Amino acid sequence: MSDKPVLWLPRRLSDATIDRARRDYDVILNDADTPGTAEEITAMSAQVDAMMPCHSEHFSADVVSRLDPRLKIIANHSVGVDHCDLPALASRGIVVTNTPDVLSDATAELAMLLMLGAARHAVRGDRLMRTGTWDSWSPSFMVGKQVTGARLGIIGMGRVGRAFAAKARGFDMEIHYFNRTRLSPDQEQGAMYHESVDTLLPVSDYLSLHCPATPETLDLMNAKRLAALPDGSILVNSARGALVDEDALLNAIESNKLAAAGLDCFKIEPGGNPKLATHENIFMLPHIGSATTKTRDAMGFRALDNLDAFFAGKTPRDLL
Ligand code: DGY
Repeated sequence: MSDKPVLWLPRRLSDATIDRARRDYDVILNDADTPGTAEEITAMSAQVDAMMPCHSEHFSADVVSRLDPRLKIIANHSVGVDHCDLPALASRGIVVTNTPDVLSDATAELAMLLMLGAARHAVRGDRLMRTGTWDSWSPSFMVGKQVTGARLGIIGMGRVGRAFAAKARGFDMEIHYFNRTRLSPDQEQGAMYHESVDTLLPVSDYLSLHCPATPETLDLMNAKRLAALPDGSILVNSARGALVDEDALLNAIESNKLAAAGLDCFKIEPGGNPKLATHENIFMLPHIGSATTKTRDAMGFRALDNLDAFFAGKTPRDLL
């Protein structure tokens, strides 16, 4: 046995990440790549000094209360930390870090794909081509909504929200946003600030969510807020499923209040709500916002940087 810290990787991270982790730590890797259960997490805590979980491993208050004191740090391989009960972890003295910045562009790219795919009937078009059922064309065939020049509302102007706004500027969109604090003029780059979501919604032909999932943002997009959007608007969610009341969204789609939605995150993951899949104007992807090779390597390296700092007696850069 070496004197390196012992690190548990509950999921199969990128090859580059695993290679670097093995160089500097005694790694226990879950080669099966199955989500770590509460039992696995608690059992493993007695064998390791550190864990590098994804959002698929849940550290609820109950799990945290059962962690062995050997575990010192959870270096998340994610920017979102809604799978971690942070106050419970703090009360146990366990250090927690995440991976901000490095996934902002990949997630913003995916939000752009969701917005465009929802606006231009990507699901229906793809089905027609794959099933060989594209049998006519007319000037009114599959007419969608234009993104260029439209009004875009962004809720949450953190790193991902700002990266998305930067990409939307390439489409000449008129950008409005709500954030807990107003950005500096440098960061705003002409985006219009709303002190309240209530004034943002009526001017959002497209509304994109980029805020974290917290008790305060649970079902942020409920029936009342969806009703406040312009008729025929489009909702995009690449943040967290918890932000959207899916029953209210289904009603808004079925009543044609919303023209479409583009979703990468769901209340039930994996799997999703089968009722959403009955609507071709809901363009859906399976929580792959940060899933590019470059970004997954960067996330792994950022999490390892945090671990390295911790075990060198320094403050990790992304300490929460
Ligand atoms: C994140 O980093 O929060 C992404 O959703 C992937 O877990």
